[in-house]
Order: sequence, then C-alpha cells, then structure tokens
Amino acid sequence: MMKVGKKASSVMLAAVLTASSLYGVPVQFVQSAEAAQSQAENPGSKSFDQKVIARVDAARMMEDVRYLSETIGPRVAGTEAEKEAANFIRKRLESYGYTVETQEFSIPDKMAGGLHTSDLKEVLVTIPSGSGSTPEEGITSELYDAGLGRAADFSEEASGKIALISRGDIPFSEKVSNAVNAGAAGVLIYNNVDQPAPMNPSIGGPYTIPVGSITKASGEALLQDIAAQNKTVTLTVKRFQNIKSQNIIAIKNPKPNKDGETDIVHISAHFDSVPFAPGASDNASGTAVALELARVLKSYPADKELRFAFVGAEEIGLLGSKHYVSQLSGNEVERSIANFNMDMVGTAWENATAIYMNTLDGQANIATETALATAERIGTPSELVLYQRGASDHVSFHDAGIPAVNFIRREPVTANLEPYYHTPLDSIDHISAERMKEAGDLIGASVYSLIRK
Ligand code: BES
Ligand code: ZN
Repeated sequence: MMKVGKKASSVMLAAVLTASSLYGVPVQFVQSAEAAQSQAENPGSKSFDQKVIARVDAARMMEDVRYLSETIGPRVAGTEAEKEAANFIRKRLESYGYTVETQEFSIPDKMAGGLHTSDLKEVLVTIPSGSGSTPEEGITSELYDAGLGRAADFSEEASGKIALISRGDIPFSEKVSNAVNAGAAGVLIYNNVDQPAPMNPSIGGPYTIPVGSITKASGEALLQDIAAQNKTVTLTVKRFQNIKSQNIIAIKNPKPNKDGETDIVHISAHFDSVPFAPGASDNASGTAVALELARVLKSYPADKELRFAFVGAEEIGLLGSKHYVSQLSGNEVERSIANFNMDMVGTAWENATAIYMNTLDGQANIATETALATAERIGTPSELVLYQRGASDHVSFHDAGIPAVNFIRREPVTANLEPYYHTPLDSIDHISAERMKEAGDLIGASVYSLIRK
C-alpha cells in the first residue's frame, strides 16, 4: 500500500498545482455569504472551489440515497427495480436541463427461483449461475443430509433426493459435482456462517440439476425437518433470457461550444445493488454524489467536456461501465483525460475514516493527483490513501486507457470495508450526511478544477 497522506506529498502536490495553473485564472463571480463562510473555514480554498462547495447540498444527497435505497430498495441488475432507479436518475438529470441518453445493453441469462417446505413455509433462496432449471411446478422431493458434500458423504439414499450440503472444507463446485454423481435431483447449499441473506456461491457448471443457496438458519431448520421425516421441499428454478440493463448518460458540453476537440472528464457511479441489499452505501451514495455534481456543475462555464455515466450491472461484473467505454469512439477515448468513479463514499461506519483512492495499478494519475491537490486546498478532513484495487467501474476506464480512480471509504491501514457491505444492513441508517458532503466537495472541486475555463 502506498500512503499519500496529505502532508507527505508536497513535491507531487507542487507539480500538480503548477500544472493546474495552466488551466487559467479563476473566474470571477459574486461570492455568496454561504461561500464566504465556508471559505473562511478553509482559507486555502480558491474561489473556484467555493463555487462548488457552497452549493453541494448534503440534505439533497441524503434524500436521493433514501429514494434509491428505501423507496426503491435492492436494485439487482436486470430487474424492474434497477430500471426504476435508471428512470429516477434520467428524470432528475432532465430536470437539471441535460439531454439524457439511455444506453441499453444485454446481460447474461439469469436463474431465479423459490423454495418452500411441505408445510408451505417459504425459505429465502438464491440461485447461483450454473444451476440447472426445473419444470414450471418445480421439483418436490425429500431432503438428503449430505454433510459437507464430500464424495463419501453420499450413499445410495441420496439418489432422487435434494441434497442438503453445508458450506466448508471443499469447493462448492465439488459439492455439486458429488451430488450429481450420486444421482441427486437437486442441491441446497447452506451457509456455515450466520448471515441474514443467502450467499451467492460460485459453483461452476452449468449443471443439469437445480442448485439453491440458503442461509445457515434455513439449513439448520431443514436438517430438523429431515429428522422429523416425511417432509419434502419444492425447489423451483427458472432461466430468464434476453435480460437488459442500462446506463444513463448526461453530457455537459464546453462553453463556448468546442464540441469534438476538447478533453473529456468522466464522472461515474453504479446504481445497481446485490440481491437483498438496499445498497445505500453500495452504491446509492456514489450515485447521489454524482447527481448532485451534475446539478452543481451544470451552469458553470468550462473549457472541457464533462460526462456523467450512471451505470447498471456493476455487481455482476462491471457490465455497464464496460459497455459505456465500448461505445466511445477512438477519438473520444483519446480526448478522455480522467475518470472519477465513486463507489461507497458515504458510510457512517466509524472506522472508515479514510478516503481511499483505488487505482488498478496502484499508481497516481491525473485524477488522484488532482484530488490530492484539491484536498490540500479545501482542507478535506479525511486522510486520502492511494491504493491498488480493482473491483469497481474505474477498471473499465483504466482498461480503455483512461486514467481512472475509484473513491471509497475504508478503515485506514487494514483497508476494511464497513461490515454492512453486501448485506440487508447496507441501509440509510449507516450513511453519514457529513461524509456525503465531504465526498461531494472533494470530487466536485477536483473535477471543476480540471474542466473550468
Ligand atoms: N462497491 C463494491 C466493492 C468495491 C469497490 C470493492 C471498489 C473495492 C473497490 C463493488 O460494487 C463490488 O462489490 N465489487 C465486486 C466485484 C465486481 C467486479 C463484481 C467485489 O468486490 O466483489
Ligand atoms: Zn459497489
């Protein structure tokens, strides 16, 4: 890990400041009382920083996090809820005066299903990709306790039954293969760690038999059903085909119009979530900050082009951002100087006191250096840490040759994420308005320092 604490990097900082002075003198504007006050608190900030900071509104961003995570809720790629989030973003951008493009793209087939017991209790189930499907009415069968799912855990008894297998010891793919070899009609894998939602195991495949994932609590309840005998479960798995996700794109052209010749800066954030997670931190937070920057930066003259890419289907392999960069022309890629991606910027988790700047190669680039210089000027309270990490949409930009950074809150040194990550607890209760504001100020002022006249 390379740590670039704000005070430790004066050489690099000086270089950035010199470079940024090439972009011209600050524009004149009448400073609001609000701006004057916030500038007084951050004496190093410039008037161009204050044009952004004075207007970034924490309450508005919190409302947007609430709408996305609570009113809509989990926004799984390809679902109606994800589309609803996309429509919300599109309408909001239109209300700010943008012409908005909806960019649709296909995502791989998805398996989805249901599970209930013979006494009609619904059991939460996740169907991993690679599972087989069932007839419409599902398969109804007794369960077979296959322990950890090792070959030796299966007897002739397993044939035609649904194998109930605990997580642990051997890979999921081996557990499922052993069940197939034993003639099982289906597989249910239960967690060995107590978590509120079923995990999403990587099982390999595709298999001919259906496979479901359930929680530890559900697995233990079903084990008792086996002991009680004569109980069956019904597992239904359906393949969904021709599924679509979408990106929402808004462009702010340079003024006066220099379309087609200027540099481009991309701001991005994914709006989808994993199943069962309201995705308040991951990533209603980044979405709300990006929306707020679209509002704040809209009317300011700039000599560079700014593009907002709200992307779908990140959680199933960065699909939205991959599609977005694939649709840029060679000329547009050449003109692209930076990507500022935000993913998990608003957690209230007390240990996440640092803002990590993740780059794929761990190296500084124009985006990280601009952010560092901006943090120094405006007095960003949190420590910024440069860190090597992929796993978010900055990867797609990096792979296209565009200098990219992902901003994410983490615990310093350990780089731990909040414990609510990818769980039903990733709700607005664990979002900090103050940290949303900090991200909006930092990234907004950074971007503005790059694009302004
Ligand atoms: N926001 C998360 C996690 C994340 C972001 C981790 C940036 C590290 C840096 C992101 O949405 C996520 O969960 N990513 C997946 C990988 C992705 C390619 C499906 C992950 O980390 O498991
Ligand atoms: Zn995310």
